[in-house]
Amino acid sequence: MDGKIVSRLILEARMAAANAYCPYSEYAVGAALLASDGTIWRGCNVENASYGVTCCAERTALFAAVAAGHRAFDALAVVAGPDGGPPASPCGVCRQALAEFCSSDMPVYCASLSGENLKETTIGAMLPDSFSRSTMSRS
Ligand code: THU
Repeated sequence: MDGKIVSRLILEARMAAANAYCPYSEYAVGAALLASDGTIWRGCNVENASYGVTCCAERTALFAAVAAGHRAFDALAVVAGPDGGPPASPCGVCRQALAEFCSSDMPVYCASLSGENLKETTIGAMLPDSFSRSTMSRS
């Protein structure tokens, strides 16, 4: 994917992370999802005193995009703290949620909160043999 688009997505993810509500973990996460019409959907993690209610940045971005009518996506960037730390790594629940709408070869760019330590992967590499509607087909 064009380096300019990757840089833009990382920047958007960093801006999303600035809105993270994470008083419990103090681990800010930001996601930027590129829809096939070129729009970019941001998400951050939103925590809760009842910890299990927390929503991850990736699903916040995905659900905002789907709620606005988007169902086709071309790329995802995720950043997470601390600055200069290891790249973000989407959790298993988010991998499954993304696999519902994103093709297995869709690129995913993961970096630290400051955008360093960039790592490129794909939805399929993150979640091989994923459970999908075809898994349930009878024929
Ligand atoms: N988190 C995300 O936002 N995305 C992930 O894929 C992993 C975890 C958030 C949830 C929680 O607010 C914090 O990171 C620590 O788990």
